[in-house]
Amino acid sequence: MTVKIKKCSVEDLQLLQEISIETFNDTFKDQNSPENMKAYLERAFNANQLEQDLSNVSSEFYFIYFNDELAGYLKVNRNDAQSETMGDESLEIERIYVRYKFQGKGIGKYLLNKAVEIATRHNKKRVWLGVWEKNENAIAFYKKMDFVQTGNHSFYMGDDEQVDFIMTKALI
Ligand SMILES: CC(C)(COP(=O)(O)OP(=O)(O)OC[C@H]1O[C@@H](n2cnc3c(N)ncnc32)[C@H](O)[C@@H]1OP(=O)(O)O)[C@@H](O)C(=O)NCCC(=O)NCCS
Repeated sequence: MTVKIKKCSVEDLQLLQEISIETFNDTFKDQNSPENMKAYLERAFNANQLEQDLSNVSSEFYFIYFNDELAGYLKVNRNDAQSETMGDESLEIERIYVRYKFQGKGIGKYLLNKAVEIATRHNKKRVWLGVWEKNENAIAFYKKMDFVQTGNHSFYMGDDEQVDFIMTKALI
């Protein structure tokens, strides 16, 4: 078994768009209306938006490969790219998605450790993220990875206002 991680560039736009839509759909389509899913997917994952995100110097995307197959991706944000004003000592994991058939093989942990490594390299004091209160699997995973709930924020899935737990892991 080999696991490889690769930083994305704008050349990866199409593949990033495909995996973003696939994993978002697989994760949330059963608990959200088709209209709200469509609205979110079109807003967050249109090519222009992703190109802007890939070009932002304060954001980084990574692909992870399991035996040379694309298995998931990670998006982290620093400074003003963070989706909440958490300050310069924090790093946000905005997206961490493992494709369905690769879940439970340690890939999520690998991506999370990559985020911690990036945060440490940039001398950050904490890593934080927002997770939908109904995403029980992800919440259990983050708890396992030593994140604790430190707040809440609103997240709009189309016109549906949802509660995201803010979870934080302090770095020593
Ligand atoms: C949540 C997610 C990133 C976890 O990644 P994963 O590759 O499936 O998890 P891993 O195999 O790396 O698990 C790491 C550890 O967390 C534990 N864990 C993972 N999911 C768990 C769950 N649902 N309940 C309890 N523990 C869990 C594992 O048992 C493992 O523990 P170990 O280190 O003692 O062996 C992945 O399942 C995923 O992409 N889910 C769908 C998308 C999603 O919800 N993303 C987060 C949006 S905020």
